Amino acid sequence: MNIAVFVSGNGSNLQALIEAESRGDISPGKISLVVCDNPQAYALERAAKAGKKVFVLEAEKGKAREEYDRQVAERLEKEEIGGIVLAGFMRILSGEFIDRYKNRILNIHPSLLPKFKGARSIKDAFEAGTKETGVTVHFVTSELDAGPIILQEKVSVDEGETLETLKEKIHRIEHKVYPEVVKLFTRGKLKIQGDKVEIKE
Ligand code: GRF
Repeated sequence: MNIAVFVSGNGSNLQALIEAESRGDISPGKISLVVCDNPQAYALERAAKAGKKVFVLEAEKGKAREEYDRQVAERLEKEEIGGIVLAGFMRILSGEFIDRYKNRILNIHPSLLPKFKGARSIKDAFEAGTKETGVTVHFVTSELDAGPIILQEKVSVDEGETLETLKEKIHRIEHKVYPEVVKLFTRGKLKIQGDKVEIKE
């Protein structure tokens, strides 16, 4: 299955997926395209180093979200993309795009959803003094940071934890779980039943 990974920034999850792919760990998934809205993203260097095809499309002021997404979808069609993996992509996708790729878009979020939605989840969880946070991988629906949860892994906030150490712990878990879920997805092991996802062994 041809996969497109969508990124905007650092791209450490993209890197983890690229490395998993080279070990044969996401097969039959194949990272066939990296989509990026930010020409300065470090993720693009990672993609280039791995020899991945990239599609960089900056948002233009005044251009409708739907129009941007249509241009992306056109490119995805060309590459015969079957699954989309959001990995730190900072744009909100239009309902039209999400419908078009219904049940074929995955996202990773650095908290135990539905707790700490939004773009500052690790900081928010840390500042709230929570003793436990984590990572969620879910299917994308038009409701932000919602959608059927595929997998969650907890991360403890220990005595003496700093925001930096917590971030590192969370990213380490992300880099482990995301390739695992992508593998299950490309192998057809994820079955959505209403709001729930069943993992078929
Ligand atoms: C990750 O923490 C992910 O959970 C969130 O955005 C961050 C992306 O990091 N959606 P990176 O660009 O993969 O390093």
